[in-house]
Amino acid sequence: MEVATAQRLEPEGSVQHLFDLSTVDMAGVDSLIHDRLQSDVPLIPALGDHLVEAGGKRLRPLLTVAAARLCGARGDAHRKLAAAVEFIHTATLLHDDVVDGSQLRRGKVAAHLIWGGSASVLVGDFLFARAFELMVETGSLQALGILARASRVIAEGEVLQLTRAHDLQLDQATYLEIIRGKTAELFAAAAEAGAVVSGATAGQIAAVAAYGLKLGLAFQLADDALDYGGTSETLGKNAGDDFREGKVTLPLLLAIQRTGAQEAAFWERTVGQHEQSEADFRRARDLIASTGGIASTLALAHEYAEEAKTALQIFPRDEWRVSLEALADFAVDRAA
Ligand code: IPE
Ligand code: IPE
Ligand code: MG
Ligand code: MG
Repeated sequence: MEVATAQRLEPEGSVQHLFDLSTVDMAGVDSLIHDRLQSDVPLIPALGDHLVEAGGKRLRPLLTVAAARLCGARGDAHRKLAAAVEFIHTATLLHDDVVDGSQLRRGKVAAHLIWGGSASVLVGDFLFARAFELMVETGSLQALGILARASRVIAEGEVLQLTRAHDLQLDQATYLEIIRGKTAELFAAAAEAGAVVSGATAGQIAAVAAYGLKLGLAFQLADDALDYGGTSETLGKNAGDDFREGKVTLPLLLAIQRTGAQEAAFWERTVGQHEQSEADFRRARDLIASTGGIASTLALAHEYAEEAKTALQIFPRDEWRVSLEALADFAVDRAA
């Protein structure tokens, strides 16, 4: 006779507890992802599996599931939406790595370096289309509208960022507009769509959307800090990519402002003119650290994480809410 091993639940108020609570839902999401990655065109599952098997944190589908459960979900529509959300995210990663020329993703060689940029872009399109099929299956035009809008806004965020690369005049408001578009709006939509298919009230839907938006801003701010502080081993992608691409993220923006005329020529050459060596990255990283660029970026991320938690105050403080609060802290304090 097989002896069942008791499942050890992590303490309430941890991200792992949120995953524990969502085990059954997330297993359902996982099998949907695997099923819908299939196609009669072999390159599609080959390339798709490469990225999906590498894992990823699965934060966005977790958000859909948790928001749905917080609002009393029944049925399986929230699982389909969660799978759709992860497909949208994965599609943007395929496209993003081509655009950014990134070499490493989820600890593996980026797909475009194995199969080429064209294949990556086209399989990204396939994943987007799969996401829309899943959304239509839920029958919720409202959820479809929320995620369609988020998909459009991501593209706008990415294009806005592209047009402002190498721009030493980029201000904090425009930077925040970029990260809201490219990252935070999908976090918001992931949570909002989960609530919508769970019979939530308008107030509850607005609350989880606000939570997701603030969480997403905190998450991307932390990501931009990690790009100057993390290592490729823990990140699963190369640190320093933002500087090498001439992307003016908040840590860099603050260092440019705070070093003033003293370093103007250095920033103009490396970021403005995009003439850099490896030593330049180290110097930039040191200037960013010494001017408090990382600390200020993380402080702002903490502020958004607190605002995310505040948005959940309309809900009873059950284990879902407590774990979602922990997720807000994790988004900022994470190492990967
Ligand atoms: C990567 O997102 C893209 C950003 C918004 C920074 P994640 O860090 O959530 O990627 P995975 O899914 O865990 O690999
Ligand atoms: C990720 O942007 C956002 C999207 C994929 C839409 P980044 O380019 O900043 O993220 P990483 O560093 O490649 O994960
Ligand atoms: Mg990128
Ligand atoms: Mg990018």
